[in-house]
Amino acid sequence: MDPFINEVLNLLLRFFHVITGIAWIGASFYFIWLDNSLENPPKWKADKGIRGDLWAIHGGGFYEVAKYRLAPPEMPKHLHWFKWEAYTTWITGFFLLSLMYYVGAEAYLIDKRVADLSQGQAIAIGLSVIIGGWFFYDLLCKSPLAKNGTLLGIVLFAGGTGLAYFLTQVFSARGAYIHMGAVIGTIMAGNVFRVIMPGQRALVDAVKAGGAPDPSWAEKAKLRSTHNTYTTLPLIFIMISNHYPITYNHAYNWAVLMAIVVITAAIRRYFVLRHTNKETPWILAGAGVATLALVVMIAPKSISVPAQAEAADVVASVNVNKVESVLQSRCAVCHSSSPTDDMFGTAPGGVMLDDIAQMKQWAPRIQARAVDSTDMPFMNKTGMTDDERVLVGEWIAAGAPES
Ligand code: HEC
Repeated sequence: MDPFINEVLNLLLRFFHVITGIAWIGASFYFIWLDNSLENPPKWKADKGIRGDLWAIHGGGFYEVAKYRLAPPEMPKHLHWFKWEAYTTWITGFFLLSLMYYVGAEAYLIDKRVADLSQGQAIAIGLSVIIGGWFFYDLLCKSPLAKNGTLLGIVLFAGGTGLAYFLTQVFSARGAYIHMGAVIGTIMAGNVFRVIMPGQRALVDAVKAGGAPDPSWAEKAKLRSTHNTYTTLPLIFIMISNHYPITYNHAYNWAVLMAIVVITAAIRRYFVLRHTNKETPWILAGAGVATLALVVMIAPKSISVPAQAEAADVVASVNVNKVESVLQSRCAVCHSSSPTDDMFGTAPGGVMLDDIAQMKQWAPRIQARAVDSTDMPFMNKTGMTDDERVLVGEWIAAGAPES
C-alpha cells in the first residue's frame, strides 16, 4: 500500500477509534457512578416505583435522574440506548489493527527473532486468538464456574496470563501487547452485543407485554458488566502501551503486562467502592506501592554513569566519530531525510539521525529506545550489538558532545 494512503487511513481510523472509545468508556463510567450514587427517593417517588434518585449540576443546569425498581408503568416514547459507542469502537479498532498489524505484518507483527512466521501464519494466529478468546470467555461465563464470581475471576486471570505468555512467544512485543488489547476489547464489546443488549431487549419486551422480565437476564448482564468495569483500565493502558517500550520490550513483558492489569483493575475497584461511600484507601495505597515496586523492577540496569571526577576522562575517551558512524549505520537506514529501508519510506516519528547535531538533539530518546531498552533499531533489523549500545550510552552520559 502507498505509504501516504496508509498513513492517512491510519490517522482517520485512529481518530475515530479514540473518539468512540471515549464515548463508550465515558458513558460506562458515568452509569457505574450513577448506579452507585443513587439515594433513597422521597416517599411519593418510591410510591411511583422509583428505587433511586439523584441530583446533579452540569453545564449550567440541574438534572434529576431516577431509576425504577423494576420498570416504568408504560414504555416512554423515546428510550435511549447505549450500544453504538461500543460497536463503533470495536469496528474502528479492528480495522486499525488490520491496517497496522496485518497489512503491515512484516513491519509490526512479525519479529523474526521471536518466531519466523509468514504473514499468513501471523494473521491466522492473531485472528484465532481474538475469536478463540471470546468463545473461551463466553463458555466459562456460561459454565457452573460462573456461580462463584471470585473463582471465575481467578480462572480468567490465569487464562489471560497464559495468553500473554503465548503471544510474546509468537509475535513482536508490541504485536503481542496489542493482541491482548484486541482480545479484551472483543470480550467487552461482545458482552455488550451478546448479553447486555439482548438482556435489555428482553426487559423492554417484558414491560411492553405487561409481564415480569426473566431475572436470569439481569444476572448475566450484571456479571458481564462487572467484567467490563474491571477490564476498562487495563485495556486503556494496553492501547497506549505502544509508546512505552519500558513495558512491552521488557524481557518479562508478559508478566509486566499482567502486573499492570492487576494494578489498574484494583484502582478501578477503589473508585467503584468509593461511589458507594465505602472508603478503601488501602486498595489505592497497595496499588501505589505495587506500581513503585514494578517501576523499580523494570528500571534499566544503567550504563555505568561516570562519577564527577572521572567525567572529564570519559569525555576525552568517547570517540565521537565512532558514535556517529554507529548511529548512521544502525539507525539512519530508517531515521533519515532519505531513508534506504525497504519498509519505512519516511523517517519514523520524524526522528532523523543523519548527523551528529541531530543525534545530540535526540540523545534523550536515543538513550530511552536504544540504550535503556533495546527496542531500537526496530526489531534490531540493522543488527546493533550490545557493545555499540554501551558506546552510545557512554557518549550520552558524557553530555553527547558533538566533537
Ligand atoms: C528498520 C527501521 C528502523 C531502524 C533501523 C531504527 N528505527 Fe527508530 N523507529 C522506527 C519506527 C518504525 C519508529 C516508530 C514507532 C515507534 O515509535 O516505536 C521509530 C521510532 C523511533 C524514535 C521515536 C519515538 C520516541 O521514542 O521518541 C526514536 C527516538 C528512535 N526510533 C530511535 C532509533 C535509534 C536510536 C535507532 C538506531 C539505534 C533506530 N531508531 C533505528 C524504525 C527504525
